[in-house]
Amino acid sequence: MKNLIVANWKLNPISQKEAKTLLDKTKRGIKNIKNADVVVCPPFVWLAVAPKRGKGGFIMGAQNCFWEEKGAFTGEISALMLADLKINYVIIGHSERRKYFNETDEQINKKIKKSLSAKLKPILCVGETAEERDSNKRAEVLERQITEDLKGVKKEEMKNIVIAYEPVWAIRTGNNCSVDETMGSILFIRKIISKLYKREIADNLRIIYGGSVKSENSGSYIKSAGANGFLVGGASLNAEEFVKIVKSAL
Ligand code: PGA
Repeated sequence: MKNLIVANWKLNPISQKEAKTLLDKTKRGIKNIKNADVVVCPPFVWLAVAPKRGKGGFIMGAQNCFWEEKGAFTGEISALMLADLKINYVIIGHSERRKYFNETDEQINKKIKKSLSAKLKPILCVGETAEERDSNKRAEVLERQITEDLKGVKKEEMKNIVIAYEPVWAIRTGNNCSVDETMGSILFIRKIISKLYKREIADNLRIIYGGSVKSENSGSYIKSAGANGFLVGGASLNAEEFVKIVKSAL
């Protein structure tokens, strides 16, 4: 399977001009790359300006969506609206959404199912906090999140799911997860999927790593931890650095 490198711009940049510049630079940097899939997830407002500029280079993704299709839900964006803009991927259940917006596994599950029915590919983020890690609860947390977030997702839909293992303590801290620990978590995630579905589905699932990924550390996750790519936050705002990260996954 091709590795998948996802740029999560989060709440950046603040102007359309900067967004276009970053899209252009990223597009230029990856234009000849064929053996990896590169997804760029800007804030919603920059999605409408992005697709034409992204063609041929990267694939567009969003950072969130709502589970209802339309109606009286002020401030929300539906999976169907994203699909209409030809967006392919959507990040669901990022730890920042779980933390700052109190997203529950039940809500994340609704978003996953709605995204799949709109033909979007959800990138489901899972991972333990520092406290959970310190109290040896990583396995319990991963199992609970994956089981609840994927409840009702059919076997045949699993080919459109990506799981991002993002230990919360590694995000934005510069304290990236070690290769050994990441390898352990990725193997454990495959075990859960194998139990919920079957071995073949687990083996073919793309599991990517996220949390302080930089060009200096990225290659080792592919070579030694069994990751099928990365979810890159801060470093994706620097096109040169992001392109280096993409190249480390080829
Ligand atoms: P980071 O963020 O690369 O800035 O740690 C990763 C993420 O939150 O997806």
